[in-house]
Formats: sequence, structure tokens, C-alpha cells
Amino acid sequence: MNEYDTHLVQSQLVSLGADIVPTVDEADVVLVNTCAVRGKPVEKVRSLLGDLRKIKARRPMVIGLMGCLAQLDEGQQIARAFGVDIVLGPGSLLDIGKALESSERFWALNFRDELHAHVPPPPQGTLQAHLTIMRGCDHHCTYCIVPTTRGPQVSRSPDDILRELDAQLAAGVQEVTLLGQNVNAYGVDQGAQLAGYPSFANLLRLVGRSGVRRVKFTTSHPMNFTEDVAAAMADTPAICEFVHLPVQSGSNRVLRRMAREYTREGYLQHVTDIRRHLPHAVLATDIIVGFPGETEEDFQHTLDLYDEVGYDSAYMFIYSPRPGTPSYTHFEDLPREVKTERLARLVAKQKEWSARKNAAKVGTMQDVLLRGDAHEPGFLEGHTRGNHPTVVPAAVGADRPGTYAVRINHATPHMLYGRILGADGQELPIRETAASGPQRPDTAALITPLPMA
Ligand code: 5AD
Ligand code: SF4
Repeated sequence: MNEYDTHLVQSQLVSLGADIVPTVDEADVVLVNTCAVRGKPVEKVRSLLGDLRKIKARRPMVIGLMGCLAQLDEGQQIARAFGVDIVLGPGSLLDIGKALESSERFWALNFRDELHAHVPPPPQGTLQAHLTIMRGCDHHCTYCIVPTTRGPQVSRSPDDILRELDAQLAAGVQEVTLLGQNVNAYGVDQGAQLAGYPSFANLLRLVGRSGVRRVKFTTSHPMNFTEDVAAAMADTPAICEFVHLPVQSGSNRVLRRMAREYTREGYLQHVTDIRRHLPHAVLATDIIVGFPGETEEDFQHTLDLYDEVGYDSAYMFIYSPRPGTPSYTHFEDLPREVKTERLARLVAKQKEWSARKNAAKVGTMQDVLLRGDAHEPGFLEGHTRGNHPTVVPAAVGADRPGTYAVRINHATPHMLYGRILGADGQELPIRETAASGPQRPDTAALITPLPMA
């Protein structure tokens, strides 16, 4: 979402006559886009602003702070402390022009909803794009700062969404990811209901029938997940069988304290529904370890839930107390060692499952969107419909970015390796540079077909 917002502001700047330059040394204006969901990114912003202040002491420069941190008192205090000139909350990004015209400090912190009328088409040849379908969030998970920084949920009109999608398709986009804090709740905010917007499942069907090759979406709150979303995924081939469904914890006691509004059993029912419609669904999740008051027994429930679902991947976070959230005010943080030790156990569990899930892909055919060159010369990297990172040697007649059929022949917990197939289902010959490459015998070994796991 922040990348998308960064592009939005960059395009505003370009339309005002600015050039985007690669380094701070060449810049007259430096804007720092920020995340506030955990404490660590906030620390990074402080140190970056410290460096920028030193440069500004030597020559004229305008420094701006934008995004979620800018919306918070914490961010505004930081902005004052570091001599920041412009502060733009995530709902005020279009004020960048006004901000630059102003000769004084410029602070803009309103929630606006017509931001997206201004999204420029992506450059020709872009394969993958994001498309924001809603902003803000109406949930109040007790650990989360997002409702404060991004405000209440506002769905974007389907006409606007489809217009932006058309521009993406004209640029050659093959995969679009619909973005929102909680895309499943698309259409349920009051404005959207009054305007008669479709449900998320029906929006998915509309987007899936637009001619785009792949549709993904992120992220989903389990409470708003309806079985019709799983049905739409099954009846619309372009929608990828990938579901990111953050569970946060496997303990009902912790879920209640987090105000997540579902139980472990309700969550598992969604997983069952998804797998009934999509037996090969790839499931990913977010988990917070060490939420205040989490006992060893609560944490064990999270570990068992991981085994019960068998996730392909997970984003795992240590609870980070955020000033201004209910859990910060009402609960006491657990000791650091307890949190890090639990995270290590969860990461080990995740690695085990990713290894198992990836190994099961060996011998299968996958549709892989190859974005471009991998680190190894002669290799291309990309990802499957299920978001598994994949590396293949460039083949004769298939050495450009695009979507290809790939047979997987080797897997690690983090990566799939394979060979590009031709129209006849046979492996295409490897292009010279990748095939021989005596200077890289180790990588050549990696792509040797292995027996089925
Ligand atoms: N501490 C740790 N993780 C958090 N997340 C949100 N707020 C916090 C916090 N205070 C995680 C959740 C969410 C993801 C985007 O970030 O898991 O799904
Ligand atoms: Fe934060 Fe997501 Fe909960 Fe909204 S649903 S409050 S964005 S964790």
C-alpha cells in the first residue's frame, strides 16, 4: 500500500514539473513515506531524518514526512524535532503541490477519499500492478494503529476501479493485486451501501472477467470473509487460489483480548470452506507472538493451529506496543526474551511447513510470472499463482519477462526451481549462458531434476 501511495505522490510531483532523481544528493526535496504499524520502522525514520537534517544544514533542502507515522502525534513530534518542512497524512497526499508552494511549514492531516482519481497508468510493459479498492479500516483490533492513521473504511467505486484496471491492462499488466486493509469488507461501508456497490465476491468476479490473467487480493479479516469469496475464486479462473487470511493467534482468550471478533473455530471453518471450493488453495497468514498476557498455553494453541491449517507461508511479528492503541494503554508488555523465544519456535514451525509444502510442488506444473533476471546470470525469477518465489534458467525462445508454464524440479523452504515448458509440454532447451556457465556449477546443480519428494 505504501508503494502504491509513493507512486501516487511521485506522479503528482512529475505532473508539477519535478524530476525524480536516484539519490538524495541530487534532490531539492526529499519525502519520506512511513509505516507506523510497529515500532521498528519508526526508529528507522528517526535515523533517516537525522541524516537528512545533517545534509540540510549544509545546503537548502525541503524535507517531508508522509504516510501513517505523519498522521500520529508521535510523528508530528518527530517532525518538529528534526526540522521537517512538510507533513502529509495518508489521506492528504494530494496536497503535495500546495505544500511545495507554501513558504512555511505545511501540515495536512485530513482523510480524503478521492485520492485515486489521480493514479497515473503504469508504464508500458508493466507485468504486475497493485490496485487499491478501499482505504481505511472499521475494525478496532486492540494492538493496531491503522484505524487511527488511515481512518474509517471508504470503498472506491467499481467504475473507478475498473477504469484503473483498463489502464493497467492497456499497459500489458498480467497480474493485478487488489489492495485494502480488509478487502473482504469492500462495499459494506455506509457510503458504498448507499451507492449500491457490489460485494467483494462480485467485485472479484468483475475484475476476474476483465481479461487480466491473474487476480490476487490482500488482505482479509476473517470476520468479513464470506464463503461466496471462495466460490468466486473457484468459478473465476483468473482469480489465483491464494488466500492471505491473518489469524494473529490460535488462542480464543488472546483473540478476545485482541478484539478480533472471531474464534479459532470460526477461523478454521473458513479454512474448511476455502478448501472445499479450492482443494489446492495456498494459505498464508499473519501471526503476532507475545501479545500482552499470552501464556505458554495460549502460544501452544497458535502452534497447533499452524499444524491444523498447514500454511504455505506466514508473516510473523513480535507484538510491538503502539502508543495510542488500547492494548498499549490497558495491558503490560511481556518480557522481550519471552517474545523472541516464542518467535523463534514459530519461525521453526513455519520453515518446516514451507519445506513440506514446497517439496510437494516438485514434479508439478506451475504458471509462473517471470518478472526478470534473478541474481544468477542467465536465470529468471518470478512467482507462481500461489505466490511461491520461483527461479528458472532462461530458455531458448523464453528469456523475456512474462508468464510461462514451468515444471518444478527442485524446492527449498524458500524457493522453487524449475524449467520452462514449450507448447508441447516438453522442457525448452536452456539458453547458452545459463546452461553451460562452468563458472557457476553450484547453480547448475540446483536445477538438476530431483526425484519426487
Ligand atoms: N505489533 C505487532 N504486529 C502488528 N501488526 C499490526 N499491529 C501490530 C503490532 N502492534 C501486524 C498484524 C497485521 C500486520 C499487517 O501487522 O499481524 O496483520
Ligand atoms: Fe488493524 Fe487489520 Fe485489525 Fe484493521 S483489521 S484494526 S488494519 S489489524
